[in-house]
Amino acid sequence: MLGVCYYPEHWPESWWAEDARRMKAMGIGFVRIGEFAWSRMEPQAGVFDWGWLDRALDVLHAAGLKVVLCTPTTAPPKWLVDAHPDILPVGPDGMVRGFGSRRHYTFSSATYLLESRRITEAIALRYGKHPGVAGWQTDNEYGCHDTVMSYGPEDLREFRQWLRRQYQSPDQLNEAWGNVFWSMEVQSFDQVSLPNLTVTEANPAAQLDFRRFQSSQVAAYDKMQVDILRAHSPGRFITHNMMGFFTEYDHWPLGEHLDFPSWDAYPVGFTERLPFSEEEHVRWAETAHPDISPFNHDLYRAIGKGRFWVMEQQPGPVNWAPWNPVPKPGMVRLWTWEALAHGAEVVSYFRWRQAPFAQEQMHAGLNLPGLHELSPGGKEARQVGEELARLGALPKSGQGDVALVYDYEAQWVLDIQPQGKDFRHGELCFRFYEALRRLGLDVDIVRPGASLKGYKLVVAPSLPIVSEAAERAFAAAEGVLMFGPRSGSKTRHYQIPGNLPPGPLQKQLGLRVIEVSSLRPGLSSKVTGAISGTATRWAEHLETGAKVLGKFADGKPAVVQNGQCFYLACWPDEKLLQGLIGRAAKAAKLKTLALPPHIRLRRRGDWVFAFNYGPKAWPLPKGAKPLLGSKTLKAQELAIWKAGPG
Ligand code: GAL
Repeated sequence: MLGVCYYPEHWPESWWAEDARRMKAMGIGFVRIGEFAWSRMEPQAGVFDWGWLDRALDVLHAAGLKVVLCTPTTAPPKWLVDAHPDILPVGPDGMVRGFGSRRHYTFSSATYLLESRRITEAIALRYGKHPGVAGWQTDNEYGCHDTVMSYGPEDLREFRQWLRRQYQSPDQLNEAWGNVFWSMEVQSFDQVSLPNLTVTEANPAAQLDFRRFQSSQVAAYDKMQVDILRAHSPGRFITHNMMGFFTEYDHWPLGEHLDFPSWDAYPVGFTERLPFSEEEHVRWAETAHPDISPFNHDLYRAIGKGRFWVMEQQPGPVNWAPWNPVPKPGMVRLWTWEALAHGAEVVSYFRWRQAPFAQEQMHAGLNLPGLHELSPGGKEARQVGEELARLGALPKSGQGDVALVYDYEAQWVLDIQPQGKDFRHGELCFRFYEALRRLGLDVDIVRPGASLKGYKLVVAPSLPIVSEAAERAFAAAEGVLMFGPRSGSKTRHYQIPGNLPPGPLQKQLGLRVIEVSSLRPGLSSKVTGAISGTATRWAEHLETGAKVLGKFADGKPAVVQNGQCFYLACWPDEKLLQGLIGRAAKAAKLKTLALPPHIRLRRRGDWVFAFNYGPKAWPLPKGAKPLLGSKTLKAQELAIWKAGPG
């Protein structure tokens, strides 16, 4: 269940066998290689050098390791860029983004599509049936360094084509986008321009379609590689390593054609980057916030319909966040077990050995820079290897009781017109997730429109566009439903629904939203009633006959309940959200706990896992007999026990 990312091209060939032996000895089963090695595979156009890769594969295979081989398209070599500068992406400022790092291509480049096909076919033909190759990874982290959006001539050409397929005529496009406003009408698709470099905000409907278009380019590009690999490499799995919290493209469609998704988990780096309060930043700086990895594990498990890997697990400090502290002792082990608790099939560390050269020389590996000596994180990985060997197979994880509806498009809609500077969709979803897990609940993430059968509680923190499929799924839900602010507030073409928000949910929720108010820091409203707390950032004025559970200071409803459905008409502070989630969980007849902020539980089959993000110890529930760990859960420790009946 453990893996590692390895770069044979970075080290003398005489080291490979020893590296492989040491990997195997510490319980590693999978080795991912090749994603940045195009300049070594094809040093000149059409001149391949497979010798080194043949030998590397043979060495790894001989050591009993299974290889995940990557297509190298994330880093087109210099000769290719020089021959075809049209592959380069263009930033929103109209400037070409150049050679010298990675991901310097646009998904819309016709040339790059051909070149990608060519190298993918070449590597698939050469190694597709190699006994050491267990599976494939396409490219590397689509979207890394903001590389989904590109604004060059290639993108414009493809965008116009995409629009032709979406809209039958320019008139329909004008109508859908509301182009009569500010004289933005076009007479032909060839008059459509890109939504950058405008004097002020571009039409939000155009921006949303541009995002949909760019996102579909990513999915099509990935599918192109997958089709080639499938044709030439029977019986091998195909995955792509997605990056947590990257929302520039929709990850759900990739789950349709991959065998399973993987994701790259850098919990301390993410904690630095996310918009937490200063107090939270400091509190979680060396352990990561306890829901950062779990949120993503649950998301990717959903995208993979039950299957996912962690392809890159942080093994120590990273190099790319504003600050990069060393994780507290025990965290690398804890994160690994946590991924397994959430259903990961394999956890693979990035990377085997710290590289003492180039961009990532300050990024830890399982081995010290340039040496054959485990780093502190490497020793923890070795410990997990021993523990896994001792415990044997883990039970299967099944569907939980609680679903959280999460959508990439919702993020785009609210990014395009936030209306209040700090209305951040991702943050709201994360806070809902956190509140659920503070109650000791396991959460499944679901795509809007997916069946909600079997869920006792479904929360949709904010879903501005409610598709017909989503509307049907909500109507058919058997459990308690909870919707957050701005649900149903836009149509598919970025307009306010004719019947006012929450649009298609109006009947089910029994309310209309008459006005919305964004609240700058310092402006807030107390909420009082059966559920109380403070509304910050956002408040809606409702017209409703539903039961009022909490009121704003001016007496208007802030939280309402209509039968089995709850609606939250504001951005909640911690108290308000925790109270509301607790109430909804009770209505759903769920068994809950009040966990301290640093403790999390997770079930996998009949095993219960507990994780302590520190610093205070926590006694395991009465009767728990640990399979791993002890009855007092110390800081940065974990424990596993078997659930008792009931
Ligand atoms: C990932 C990337 C890796 C490496 C790593 C460093 O985003 O896929 O290649 O750069 O970050 O943390």
